[in-house]
Amino acid sequence: MALVVDDIDLLVTNDPMLGDGPLGIRRDVALVIEGSVVTSIQPAGAAGDDRVSAEDCCVVPGFVDSHTHLVFAGDRSDEFAARMAGTPYSAGGIRSTVEATRAASTEDLGADVAMRRYAALLSGTTHVEIKSGYGLDVENERRLVEVASGITDDVTFLGAHTVPAEFAGKPDAYVDLVCGAMLAACAPHSRWIDVFCEEGAFDVDQSRAVLRAGRTAGLGLRVHANQLGFGAGVRLAVEEGAASADHCTYLSDEDVDALASSSTVATFLPASDFSTRQPYPDARRVIDAGATVAIATNCNPGSSYTSAMAFCIALAVRDMHMTPDEALWAATRGGAAALRRPELGWLGPGSRADAVILDAPTHVHLASRPGMALVRDVISGGVRVPR
Ligand code: NIG
Repeated sequence: MALVVDDIDLLVTNDPMLGDGPLGIRRDVALVIEGSVVTSIQPAGAAGDDRVSAEDCCVVPGFVDSHTHLVFAGDRSDEFAARMAGTPYSAGGIRSTVEATRAASTEDLGADVAMRRYAALLSGTTHVEIKSGYGLDVENERRLVEVASGITDDVTFLGAHTVPAEFAGKPDAYVDLVCGAMLAACAPHSRWIDVFCEEGAFDVDQSRAVLRAGRTAGLGLRVHANQLGFGAGVRLAVEEGAASADHCTYLSDEDVDALASSSTVATFLPASDFSTRQPYPDARRVIDAGATVAIATNCNPGSSYTSAMAFCIALAVRDMHMTPDEALWAATRGGAAALRRPELGWLGPGSRADAVILDAPTHVHLASRPGMALVRDVISGGVRVPR
């Protein structure tokens, strides 16, 4: 059974070997899919058993959202309103979501995350990473990674999100718990471990201890780094061989050099900078230095309550001075690099069949028409998503 996405006006393959320019652009083609995999790119009109028309449309790889906190309960819109009135964002707000999440039933958490995942899928996100981090005790963190593992293979254990109230003043004791019983309970459901390395969260020694314990347990490494100020997070991520350093809002020259000479992906989360009124990261400096970059939504109830990758692309272009091509690549193949998933983020023979059909002649419209409903259809793993 072959599914053909036919009459594509403009196809972004994200593989320069398959078409023109860095995005490997092809025109007037059909994408042939068998099972969950793309098998070929053919001239429009290719034979197949089932057909989706992409006439007058641009087709891009599905977005790969490599940083979300989708499992949570409660609402923090008051915190957002206070921020807009001048109260600065601080890591402490996480604790109010912890309280609400601990009180929620596993069924409610599961139903809510499934709805959030479906909303993201409809907006073009075909793969998500999901972090824990709102449980912060052994049983609740285990519950969150287990719920997340029902949604994605890229589950991240983030017990080191903040020090919970019951460990106030005893951060080292909490780090011991994270590295011991909590990690043991969560590692079987997780692929990654993450730590919030920031003033007000975990210092560099505590963060290094968390990452090393995670590595010993067989997990890959990710770091929340340099979100609220300059610090050691980015260099720690590079030194420890993390797959990504996320946020990267405040970067010294040493940080940029470290990223450029490593395989650690610099993951920008511009919707958080929007929602917390932080400055935007200097993406040009990082890209021009030669580092690999990704864009992700950071969907969470406190600092970035959106799963709309197109919005993040628009911010990256408008406010981070990325070109529309760079921003699309970062939201697709960059996200795949941050998750070390070479089958994702591109479209061509052998790639996963994750594609977005845009009601627009080119992908530039993602940035130039923010907030508009441009996604006409989503194909996820070779299946057309019901709308
Ligand atoms: O990436 N920085 C740490 N964690 C989230 C914020 C979570 C929250 O405020 O609830 C972030 O922005």
